Amino acid sequence: MMKQKHLLGLEHFPADDLGKIIETSFSFKEILDRPIKKVPSLQGKTIVNLFFENSTRTRISFELAQKRLSADTVNFSASSSSLKKGESFKDTVQNIEAMKIDAVVMRHPSPGSSLHLTKYIDSVVINAGDGTHEHPTQAILDMTSLKECFGKIKGLKIGIIGDIAHSRVARSNIYGLNNMGAEVMVCGPPTLVPHDIHSLGVKITHSLDEILDWADAINVLRIQLERMDRGLFPSVREYRNLFGITNERLQKHNKEIIIMHPGPMNRGVEIESAVADGKSAIILDQVLNGVASRMAILYLFLGGNQNES
Ligand code: NCD
Repeated sequence: MMKQKHLLGLEHFPADDLGKIIETSFSFKEILDRPIKKVPSLQGKTIVNLFFENSTRTRISFELAQKRLSADTVNFSASSSSLKKGESFKDTVQNIEAMKIDAVVMRHPSPGSSLHLTKYIDSVVINAGDGTHEHPTQAILDMTSLKECFGKIKGLKIGIIGDIAHSRVARSNIYGLNNMGAEVMVCGPPTLVPHDIHSLGVKITHSLDEILDWADAINVLRIQLERMDRGLFPSVREYRNLFGITNERLQKHNKEIIIMHPGPMNRGVEIESAVADGKSAIILDQVLNGVASRMAILYLFLGGNQNES
């Protein structure tokens, strides 16, 4: 069991519990290699997936994790709900909870929404991304992937490149990696790197070559094209020239750098296809580890029966 009731974020999350989730992810990953990929660990538990924002990977990954653990699941998407008829968020979630559920996995565009949800319901809340705030399960699957690749997390040098200011993936990774003893450097255009981010214990650079020189692995963030109209980017072409990860750029550094991306990728913008599909990329391993890590998270937060796994 975990010390905290909910998984809202990795800021202040106990390092030993984080280590336990990562280790448990590896046990669950073995189940995914079996011909019958199902264990009864969460039989009888009911989980509701509340998605107020678009998602492909995270939603499918949670759903598969729940099914693999034999939980009963219900999917809710805001676009087809009574919210459209004017029902409030509070009434919607309290009605769902009245149907006797054990946990809610929520993605929502507002930062802090998952904390807000814990004030309305008694069930376990798992944050699947709350606006620009945190995306803890993504950071946990990223750390599981790093552990798998390097055999450790402590002492690793991890670069995070792109739109740091608006990225919940960056924030959760910074908290989680610091917690686990890795070093973090962030890189991006000055308009997209908050100048006070060093208070989170990270190094800052605006030079791609500097971060490539330093890092063991880089996590390349999606350029959120929806932010272009606010003048935060020069142009896609200039971004690609300055910060795009290409083989030509990587080869200058004469060492292997592991390449990660949370998806969805803009191929040809923040990352070129040859890199995304190349031998140093672990992007699809991250996706598979996402299912295993979410199984571990649900299992540990919902108190499944270990003897049955
Ligand atoms: C990210 C997200 O939605 O926060 N994707 C994901 O969950 N795999 C990153 C993004 O949208 O760029």
